[in-house]
Amino acid sequence: MIDLRSDTVTRPTAGMLDAMMHAAVGDDVFGEDPAINDLEQYAAGLFNKEAALFCTSGTQANQIAVKAHTQPAEEVIIDRLAHIYYYEGGGIAFNSGCSVCLLEGDRGRITAAQVKEHINPLDDPHRPLTRLVCIENTMNKGGGAIYDFNELVRIEEVCRQHGLKYHLDGARLFNAIVETGKKPADFGRIFDSVSICLSKGLGAPVGSLLIGDTDFIRKARRIRKVLGGGMRQAGFLAAAGKYALLNHIDRLKEDHLKARQIGEMLKKLPFVSHIVPIDTNMIFFHLDDSMPSDTFLKKLRRRDIHALALSPQVVRFVTHLDITGDMMETLEKRLSAF
Ligand SMILES: Cc1ncc(COP(=O)(O)O)c(C=O)c1O
Repeated sequence: MIDLRSDTVTRPTAGMLDAMMHAAVGDDVFGEDPAINDLEQYAAGLFNKEAALFCTSGTQANQIAVKAHTQPAEEVIIDRLAHIYYYEGGGIAFNSGCSVCLLEGDRGRITAAQVKEHINPLDDPHRPLTRLVCIENTMNKGGGAIYDFNELVRIEEVCRQHGLKYHLDGARLFNAIVETGKKPADFGRIFDSVSICLSKGLGAPVGSLLIGDTDFIRKARRIRKVLGGGMRQAGFLAAAGKYALLNHIDRLKEDHLKARQIGEMLKKLPFVSHIVPIDTNMIFFHLDDSMPSDTFLKKLRRRDIHALALSPQVVRFVTHLDITGDMMETLEKRLSAF
C-alpha cells in the first residue's frame, strides 16, 4: 500500500523503537520522567527558549498556547485556513472564549500590513481587545507553503508595537527550516511561543512540544493538566520524539524531492488541471470535470494508492518517511497507466 494521505501515518523505525525501549521513565506529573525532562530541555535549547512542554498532540499544544496568551472576550488574528481556527473544532471559542479576526492570506500566509489593519482600537469598548496573532509555517491548507522569514519579522514588529502576543503553529516548521536554512532559534527569537509536532514529518508515533519562556510554560503546564494532558510514564514517547529530532530533520529534504517528483508524474495526467506550487512535502492538485476527486480516489485505491480529497475537484498527496524508492517507482507506473 502506498499511503499518501498524510505524513502522520508513519510507523516508528527500528532505531526509534530501540530508543523507546531503552527510555528511562518516571511519573511526569511529579516532574520525574527523565526522558520527558530531557526532551523538553533539548527542544527549549534548540529554539533558544527557556522551557518546553511535552503535549499529547499539535492541537493540544496550540490550544494551550491560545489559552495561556489570552483572556475570554479578547481577539485572535489568524488566517481563515489556519489549523488552529479551521481544524481544531472551534477550540479557540471552546477553550479560550475568544473571538477571531480571520484574514485571507496568500496560501494561508498573512502579512504585517494585514495584521496592522485589523488590530482593534483600544479605546472602543464595542470591539474585542486584539491580543494574539497566530501564524502557521509551513501552511498545511496552503499546500505546505513556506513563509518569507522577513515577513514574519515584520509581523513581530507590529505585535511588539501593539502589545500583541505572537504564536507559531510549527507542526511542520522543520519542513520550512530544511528548505530555507533558517535555524529553530531564529523562530524562537521572534515568537513568544512555538508548537512543533513530532508525529508528522519527523516520524514519531505521538507528541508535540510547546516552547516558550519559563512563566509561559509554567502556565501552559497548568492548562495542560486541566485539559487532561498530564501524562505519567510517557517518556517512552518522548524518547521517540528526541530520536526524531536527532535523526529525522535533515531527511525531510528527501520528502520534498519526492513531492516534486510526484508533481512531475501528475503533470502528465490529462485530467490534472492545476498543481499548486510544491514548496515542501505536500502536493495539492486540481482535477478537471472529467475526473471528480471521489472517482480518482476510488481508482487509486483499486491500485493500492491512498490519498485525500480536499474538495470535489482537489486532491492532496503528502510524502513522508515511509514512502520508499520502490513505492515511487510503483506510483509512477500506476499513475502513467491512467
Ligand atoms: C498545521 C497543523 N497544526 C496542528 C496540527 C494538529 O496536530 P495533531 O493532529 O497532532 O493534533 C496539524 C495536524 O495535521 C497541522 O497540520
